[in-house]
Amino acid sequence: MGRVEAKVALVTGGGAAPGLGSAIAARLAEEGATVFVSDIDQASAEARAAEIRDGGGKASAIRHDVTSERDWDEVIGAIARAEGGIDIVINNAGIVSAETIDKLTPEDFTRVIDVNLKSVYLGTRRAVAEMRRGSRSGSIINISSVAALVAHAGLAAYSASKAGVLLFTKSVAMETAREKIRVNSVHPGMIWTTMQQASFQRSPGSLEAAAATIPMGELGEPRDIANCVLFLASEEARYITGAAFVVDGGMTMR
Ligand SMILES: NC(=O)c1ccc[n+]([C@@H]2O[C@H](COP(=O)([O-])OP(=O)(O)OC[C@H]3O[C@@H](n4cnc5c(N)ncnc54)[C@H](O)[C@@H]3O)[C@@H](O)[C@H]2O)c1
Repeated sequence: MGRVEAKVALVTGGGAAPGLGSAIAARLAEEGATVFVSDIDQASAEARAAEIRDGGGKASAIRHDVTSERDWDEVIGAIARAEGGIDIVINNAGIVSAETIDKLTPEDFTRVIDVNLKSVYLGTRRAVAEMRRGSRSGSIINISSVAALVAHAGLAAYSASKAGVLLFTKSVAMETAREKIRVNSVHPGMIWTTMQQASFQRSPGSLEAAAATIPMGELGEPRDIANCVLFLASEEARYITGAAFVVDGGMTMR
């Protein structure tokens, strides 16, 4: 208990259940953080924040389109006014497009880059500015993917966005290291969330086959990612920045 006590955290894309964002928000709240759950779907963010409060945690919901610079200004501004600053930002919101190159339209490509990569730029930029303004150290955690590390057919746009997040994260970490603003990326493998369920619904019967390709033999649970994020958000990770943490049951070890 209390690993992020008295910290103020924002988790984007925290509405979906099951989802990585909602698991991360719940885990941070369990360990004492005041958590802001944001999502483009306000009702789902409200529901997750209410669940956290029902469990005794501190949480509020905010409607937030992570591709909008104006939304970022409003969200970080509102949190800073309410709480005096912000310590932890989890750039988690994301979408997947599973089109092969012949079917991948410029609109699809741009949308994936906007939601998965431009959002991380906007959020990191705004978070760093607020952490500097308050002279606070901080932890920014960008949710990338194993798709940033190894290739998958049909995931060109997604992989490009997630690989962008990987080196974007390291570049900013280099700029902010002396100020103790730590910036790290987390690379989940296949985790059982709303996004992953939708992918398996598109190709029924593939779940067992997919699990068999994972050295540990099963998909991960959202809490597996949340535990890694919690560690990086906490002071236990005070000497870790510019790092990429893979949580994938061994998918990318060979
Ligand atoms: N589930 C996996 O196996 C897996 C693996 C690797 C990486 N990831 C990454 O983890 C993150 C979370 O994935 P998930 O599986 O929990 O997805 P999910 O689809 O279950 O949840 C994503 C959430 O993001 C929200 N969102 C979408 N567009 C948004 C926008 N423009 N602004 C704000 N919110 C928006 C959705 O409403 C949803 O609540 C994503 O970045 C995803 O790419 C997931």
